[in-house]
Amino acid sequence: MTISEIFETMDYGTAPESATEAQAWLDTRNRTFGHFINGTFTTPGNGFETRNPATGDMLAAVTQATQADVDAAVQAARRAHPKWAGLGGHARARFLYALARLLQKHSRLFAVLETLDNGKPIRESRDIDIPLAQRHFYFHAGMAQLMEDELPDREALGVCGQIIPWNFPLLMLAWKIAPALAMGNTVVLKSAEYTPLTALLFADICQQAGLPKGVVNIVTGDGSVGEMIVAADVDKIAFTGSTAVGRRIREATAGTGKALTLELGGKSPYIVFDDADLDSAVEGLVDAIWFNQGQVCCAGSRLLVHEPVADVFYAKLRARMDKLRVGDPLDKSIDVGAIIDPAQLKMITDLVASNAAGQMHVAKTDLPTEGSFYPPTLITGLNPADPLMQEEIFGPVLVSTTFRTPADAVALANNTRYGLAATVWSENINLALDIAPKLASGIVWINGTNLMDAAAGFGGVRESGFGREGGWEGLAGYTRPKGSKKPLKERAAARGKNAPLDPIDRTAKLYIGGKQSRPDGGYSAPVWSKSGALLAHVSRANRKDLRNAVEAAHAARSWSRTTGHLRAQILYFIAENLSARADEFAQRLNDMQGGNSGAKEVDTSINRLFTYAAWADKYDGQVHGVPIRGVALAMKEPVGVIAAICPNEAPLLGLISCLAPAISMGNRVILSASEIFPLAATDFIQILETSDVPAGVVNILTGTHDDVATHMAAHMDIDAVWCFGRKSLSREIEKASASNLKRTWVNNGVARDWMGTPRQGQEFLQAATEIKNIWVPYGE
Ligand code: NAI
Repeated sequence: MTISEIFETMDYGTAPESATEAQAWLDTRNRTFGHFINGTFTTPGNGFETRNPATGDMLAAVTQATQADVDAAVQAARRAHPKWAGLGGHARARFLYALARLLQKHSRLFAVLETLDNGKPIRESRDIDIPLAQRHFYFHAGMAQLMEDELPDREALGVCGQIIPWNFPLLMLAWKIAPALAMGNTVVLKSAEYTPLTALLFADICQQAGLPKGVVNIVTGDGSVGEMIVAADVDKIAFTGSTAVGRRIREATAGTGKALTLELGGKSPYIVFDDADLDSAVEGLVDAIWFNQGQVCCAGSRLLVHEPVADVFYAKLRARMDKLRVGDPLDKSIDVGAIIDPAQLKMITDLVASNAAGQMHVAKTDLPTEGSFYPPTLITGLNPADPLMQEEIFGPVLVSTTFRTPADAVALANNTRYGLAATVWSENINLALDIAPKLASGIVWINGTNLMDAAAGFGGVRESGFGREGGWEGLAGYTRPKGSKKPLKERAAARGKNAPLDPIDRTAKLYIGGKQSRPDGGYSAPVWSKSGALLAHVSRANRKDLRNAVEAAHAARSWSRTTGHLRAQILYFIAENLSARADEFAQRLNDMQGGNSGAKEVDTSINRLFTYAAWADKYDGQVHGVPIRGVALAMKEPVGVIAAICPNEAPLLGLISCLAPAISMGNRVILSASEIFPLAATDFIQILETSDVPAGVVNILTGTHDDVATHMAAHMDIDAVWCFGRKSLSREIEKASASNLKRTWVNNGVARDWMGTPRQGQEFLQAATEIKNIWVPYGE
């Protein structure tokens, strides 16, 4: 045999990691666990077994939480909260630092236990999951330290219920617990039923760190325990898991005032252009879809290849697939480990079996004879509408099609209900950075994939959920503005009697697509002055008018691509025009509402327009330093089309306070004006008509909020709904929004001081933007 033949035929030896320490730790607990509540482990109760997916062996028995367990955990967290929040950032930072250090100290034990419980290759748990979990605690120790200085107007939410999946058990725990604790919250976390063990080991670490009792509570159990947490007296639910469950949680929390972040599924595109470094792009795919057996929410599971290089690229990819080694996850020379559970394996098998389209390549690799394993699989030649191009498979199965032009690539990439992540491979920086903003996703990786770090926000758009985890942006999900939470006082419309006969129809019209239009339903309603005189009639908008407004807003999409400089000028000009007619507007407000606060409201409205004109070109993104050869550009992008129910408390100022931040950030808006004092809005249409706002950017509806609110929330082409109307609307909107999981921002019956300017409207700017983290190579 020649040397070159030896090199050709040489196979890897095994490099097994010992499980002795992890098995011994399980033995010290008699392989039986209770929950971790109020700083101690409870007596184990009835429950279920957790198994090693690679062998099917039983690892331990864990307890299914009862309602009493969940109540006890929530109460412990509630009791612990004031003291924990009151400790101050520095003291919390020291605890988080201690947790990071202990995770580091026991990192090998955590890594092996994770691999035993989850089936992921030890190389991944050792080099990715556990180090990233540590990094999260280090990073957020820093955030705790900086909170008082950098977020002086924010405070903790209180008790956070956190529900995590099985694909990154410890990492997801870290993503949830570290920021929550840093900001002064206490938590009740439920691990996934398949993978409770590292969470229980983490509970051990909390004891070792001397964490105050009740700050972290961990319960185990299935989805029904998740439901109990969602229904419990908590201030926030943070969920990672399937879109179906996310939707149920959105419905269940509607109108409760509980904050919610959802990190759900994906079908993330992986785009390879003809000028890409094809070998790197193939290697990237190993990390995109065979990392963690493809059981990754942001997996690059939909491969889109530029037609000129498709044949070459597929050939390279098949060759690489055939070299992947599937087997014992504890073996350090294994690439692909075990699927989490036989049930998940069956789901993957059935999904693939249901497909007859395209050409399938299954990696030529031996599978172990026992345990749950699935071979790396590629299906090419699919059509965009084929079920496997749309459904999340959550396994090591890559589906693919080709594209001809960059525009095709974008269209195909965005042809999904999800929007979590996207990967772009090209050696042309102009092309890559031209494509990145066009992709509907929360994350874009350029010439890299599946990169994650505590400093960069992670999270999606569309049905991949809302909210970000990590980075400065992630802190918004664990804090709220300080200040009183007075209940909203609902106001009643003025009532009049004998309307004088008027032969001319003076009904104020709706404003849709830059034109005044009559309401589809043909109905109008009188508006009376405080003293009972008829002021005018206003149109009553219905669902059809809303639909027309959505169409108009979509047609105005180029507004989102205008510069902040231009948008600022337009807002200043609106302010100038309003200023020129200030007296008339003040009189109108006084006539409708009585009193003489009109002048002040107009003045504040002009001021507010100036504020958001000022922000239009200054609400910048950030560049996150991440510990790789690259940076993450946290770009603030417009949300898209925002529909808002404007408040009755300040008929003009409320309308301006919704309109100005939204359009200054490049959104198009559909505003349902104050339903009882609508004439300030209809007068304002004249100001808009003489401004340079392009048709369709601002659309104004009048009538009752009830007629449009739920339709706004259910409309598939509206990206976010804000509601400052009466309390009951909050619930209806949040519930209806579950249809496409759009972002909502509702008042839940809490009053807002419209005349005040807390931190110059940061909350509005945040609601008007979506942060996209674009990872680009940078530096040596
Ligand atoms: P799942 O969404 O059912 O489970 C995630 C977590 O939610 C678990 O802790 C579970 O106990 C809990 N849960 C289940 N039902 C609940 C409810 N009604 N209320 C509150 N909590 C509830 O995900 P599952 O069944 O483990 O996996 C099914 C599919 O979900 C996978 O095939 C995959 O497509 C997707 N998935 C997506 C993940 C992601 O990171 N985006 C993670 C895990 C699963």
